[in-house]
Formats: sequence, C-alpha cells, structure tokens
Amino acid sequence: MLIGCGSPSPPEFSPNRLLSIGQGSTREQENELALTLTDLFGTPDQPRAPAGTGLEMAQLEMAAGAVGYEGNKPQDEARPRGLYRQHCAQCHGITGDGYGPAAAMLSPYPRDFRRGIYKFKSTTRDAMPTDNDLRRVIVEGLPDTAMPSFQLLDNDQIDALVEYTRYLSIRGQVERELVAMPASEWNQKTVEALVQEVAKRWEMADDRVVVPDPDSLPREDRTPAEIKKSAQLGEAIFLSAAAKCMECHGKTGQPDRLTELDDWSRENFDFRTETAARAESLTAERTRVEGMAGAHRERAEARLQELAPPLRARQQVVATLLEPEYAKPRDFSSGIFRGGSESIDLFRRIHQGIPGTPMPAHGSPRPGVAGVLTDQEIFQVVDYLKNDSKNRE
Ligand code: HEC
Ligand code: HEC
Repeated sequence: MLIGCGSPSPPEFSPNRLLSIGQGSTREQENELALTLTDLFGTPDQPRAPAGTGLEMAQLEMAAGAVGYEGNKPQDEARPRGLYRQHCAQCHGITGDGYGPAAAMLSPYPRDFRRGIYKFKSTTRDAMPTDNDLRRVIVEGLPDTAMPSFQLLDNDQIDALVEYTRYLSIRGQVERELVAMPASEWNQKTVEALVQEVAKRWEMADDRVVVPDPDSLPREDRTPAEIKKSAQLGEAIFLSAAAKCMECHGKTGQPDRLTELDDWSRENFDFRTETAARAESLTAERTRVEGMAGAHRERAEARLQELAPPLRARQQVVATLLEPEYAKPRDFSSGIFRGGSESIDLFRRIHQGIPGTPMPAHGSPRPGVAGVLTDQEIFQVVDYLKNDSKNRE
C-alpha cells in the first residue's frame, strides 16, 4: 500500500491517564492496558465488539471510522460511515471522554461517556440507560445545553449512534475496572469476566425502568380546577422542609447555591488537589534536605529524585484537564427541562434524582416502600413545576 507523504496517522483512543497515573501505574502497565483494550475493542477506525457485549458490528462500523461511505459502492447504494466523527466527536471526543475540541467553551461540558453515568433516563439511578433513553437524547437533544437534536438523521443512523455511544461507554467502563485491578491478576479469564460484568449491567437496563404506581397516575380527563388543586399541593411539598427542594433550587425556583461539583468534575478536582498537595510537600522536603549535610543529605536527595517523576506525570495530566465545573441546580424560571417535559419524564427525574449530580432521589427505590415522597406526591410536584412554567409563558 502506498502511503502519501504527510498522510495523517489514524486516530487513536486516548488513555484515561487520570485513572492510571492516579493508581500509580508504570509506563509498562499503561502500555499493557492500551494493548489489552485494543485487543478487545479495536481502534476508532476498526472497532471490535468483545464477545458477550451484544454490540452489533454492522452498526459500530457505520458510526466508526472517517466520514464517508462504505467500500467502493456508488453513493446512493452505499451506507454512510464515520457518523460519530461527523456529528459527535467535536464535542464528545474520539474516545467519548468529553474532550472534543469544542468542549472547553461549553457549559455544561459534553458528557464523558467513559463513566457510564447518564443523567436523563428512564431507569433507576444506578442502572444503565435503555437504548430508547439514548435514542431520545440523540433525537431530541438536550434543550438549554449545547447537545443538539439529530432529528433529521435516518432511523438506522440513529441506531448506529446509540450503539456506538454504548460501545464507547462499555470501553471506558472496562478500562476503569482494569486500572483498578492489580496488574498481576490480569489474564484472559479475568479480563473476559470483567467485560461480561460491564455488559450485563447494560443488558439489565430494560428491567430497571421506573414505573409509577398505576393508582398515582394523573387521570387524562382532569379539569383545569383539579390540575390547579394538585399543583397547589405540589407547591406546598416543594416548599416543605421534608422535600428539601428549596435548599438547592431556591424558594422561587431560582437557585442560589453552587457549592457541589458533579461526579465528573469531582474526580478531576480531587486529582488536582492531591497533585498540588504532593508538589507542596516535595518543595518543603527539598528545603529541609538543603539544610542537611553528608550521607544523610545524599540519602534524602536520592529519595527526592524518586518522588519527582511521579509528581511530574501527575502535573502533566493536570495540564490536560478541563476546569472543574459546579453542578447548577435547574433554574425553573426558564420553563425549560432538559430531560423532557412530559409528566412521566419529570416524575422520573424527581423519583430517582439526576445521576452524576447532587440532585437526589426523592422516591422509593423499591416497590411498595415509600421514600421521601409517595408517587402521588411526586406527580403533584410535577403539576406544580409544569403549571408554574406555563404561567411564565
Ligand atoms: C455541540 C456539542 C455537542 C455535540 C455535537 C453532541 N453533543 Fe452530546 N452532549 C453535549 C453536551 C454539552 C452534553 C451534556 C449535557 C448535560 O450534561 O446536561 C451532551 C450529552 C450527551 C449525552 C448524555 C445524555 C444523558 O442522559 O446524560 C449523550 C448520550 C450524547 N450527548 C450523545 C451524543 C451523540 C451520539 C452525538 C452525535 C450524534 C452528540 N451527543 C453530539 C454536547 C454535544
Ligand atoms: C442537593 C441539591 C438538590 C436538591 C435538594 C434538589 N435538586 Fe433538583 N436539581 C439539582 C441539580 C444540581 C439539578 C441539575 C442537574 C443537571 O441537569 O445537571 C437539578 C435539576 C432538577 C430538575 C430538572 C430536570 C430536567 O429535566 O431539566 C428538576 C425538575 C428538579 N431538579 C426538581 C427538584 C425537586 C422537585 C426537588 C425536591 C423534591 C429537587 N429538585 C431537589 C439539585 C437539587
């Protein structure tokens, strides 16, 4: 094959160095991890579906690779390729790490898929999203964020993008688990078991959909007076000390509290803080060693020599990180909900909270056990929030 001068090298997945350096991995361990991941998942141009993940190769191939069309077929017969790079990578990054070139300019940041944490889904807080959940986000977009709507794409293209998002998440989750596992325990069997474990969590998503108690569902034929009454009850709950909504969203639904990081930024923040603390103690140690003499000093200097390179590696990682971002409680005065404005969407947001953010679950996580709010009370709060935003239109 002829390779022209200056032909760009094919894109690669970036390693999650915050994790590996955080675990104190050596270069060799990092290399071995990269090889293992390539073995399992292939590359951005040539993805692989590890056994047991149920990932569809035909769909992955449509979303992966460079933007273009499959093979040498005429364009009207060929299926497109490179959908992810065409539509998503500028924000979510080739690796799905949320580090696309546009990321630093956006707030909230594009999602890092590698954690497998999704905010707007129908399932319980700790469960993975269903394919339908991902499909909804991609088709509708997330209003009031940079996440656009891809309504104009064909169904099979949306399916391919759903599959590829799942692929990038599974890859990132497996990477995370591998980094946490002592390298001495890595072998084909343990790695395969780990992939199965992650894949199983995705498989179970459909069984984790949150369904309200049928008796609590608002009737279709309610009169305006009935809705108003329900909204008034909801307002009282919203303002109550037990529900705590106000603590974050403010009395008027305009938040005044910005003190908590989201899960993605917390990891980043902790890594920076730890790195700064280590740099400080190394400087203090240096000053102390300068006051020493003779063999003592030689030994202490040798130790300093050992501490410097791991610190430098951490500092290199910090230099690549986005600024940590605070979780912003939603301002209800805008009347815009990101995860859908249907009653059932808002019910699920309040019942399970919003994963990855401080927005807590208020409903019962188990059937038949009342949480902070009953299903009926949650629907009353939903009526309040919907009514309130309608009044502002
Ligand atoms: C212009 C930037 C941009 C582009 C392009 C973009 N996204 Fe996003 N996306 C975002 C942002 C920002 C968020 C995070 C919103 C939030 O946290 O509320 C997000 C979040 C998501 C989520 C997480 C939803 C959840 O429930 O947590 C998924 C899935 C997603 N995007 C998929 C895609 C896919 C697939 C594409 C390409 C078809 C794409 N995005 C293109 C900016 C973008
Ligand atoms: C500890 C702080 C906290 C408390 C308490 C809290 N929220 Fe939230 N809430 C948040 C944050 C943060 C967000 C934004 C999450 C995001 O999208 O990143 C949010 C978002 C929301 C949304 C937006 C959903 C969407 O689709 O856009 C609704 C609705 C909501 N909260 C309702 C409530 C209600 C009702 C209560 C009380 C029963 C409550 N919250 C209590 C922090 C809180």
